[in-house]
Amino acid sequence: MFYEPKKGVPFKINPFKSLIFPRPIGWISTVNKNEVANLAPYSYFNAVADEPPQIMFCSNGSSLHYKYKDSLSNILTTREFVVNFVTSSTRLQMNDSSKDFKPGEDEFILTKLKKKKSKLVKAPSVQDSPVNLECKLVKTIKLKSKSKKISTMIIGEVIGIFINDKFIKNNRVDSVSMKYIARMGYSEYTTVSSKFNLKRR
Ligand SMILES: Cc1cc2nc3c(=O)[nH]c(=O)nc-3n(C[C@H](O)[C@H](O)[C@H](O)COP(=O)(O)O)c2cc1C
Repeated sequence: MFYEPKKGVPFKINPFKSLIFPRPIGWISTVNKNEVANLAPYSYFNAVADEPPQIMFCSNGSSLHYKYKDSLSNILTTREFVVNFVTSSTRLQMNDSSKDFKPGEDEFILTKLKKKKSKLVKAPSVQDSPVNLECKLVKTIKLKSKSKKISTMIIGEVIGIFINDKFIKNNRVDSVSMKYIARMGYSEYTTVSSKFNLKRR
């Protein structure tokens, strides 16, 4: 099969996201101007540079309440955020935190997740995340958009990195033991549960 997306998608459900997987999930925490916390998952997310370390995620479309989703609105106001990671044990809370709550509703409280004070930014970190990346906004980029659906890429510099010591072994990060989950297509997810080594040539 071959198709050109701009001419139509020959499936009942657009399979685009089922073709690019597994996508890591950035569980983004922010605060609004009144310092009320917000938390939401974004799987258009990845690391994009390492000197200095930078990550990106994309906010697609609006919330029911405002032109932008709350995470983007808050970041445009405060210019900072935290990237948290979802594990098997927090997957249901992650899913609940993706509901379209009203701006100013705190998903940490609504999903019964513990907050941890971040070191360098006002946004709280997710206590149960093995890693927290404290970020400062570098820039936003408006992506091409064919409708009113606004897509904005948010690039952040990672200025503080927390790693739970229990995942550090022999001075290396033991990634598989973190049990990160990642997004596939439709409502499918996967858990990172195995690895193999391939030395770079
Ligand atoms: C696993 C998962 C991944 C998601 N990835 C994205 C994404 O990359 N971009 C996006 O705009 N929305 C994504 N969503 C939907 C947002 O989480 C949802 O719109 C949420 O309400 C946004 O919250 P906010 O308004 O507090 O930022 C995702 C949802 C789930 C469950």
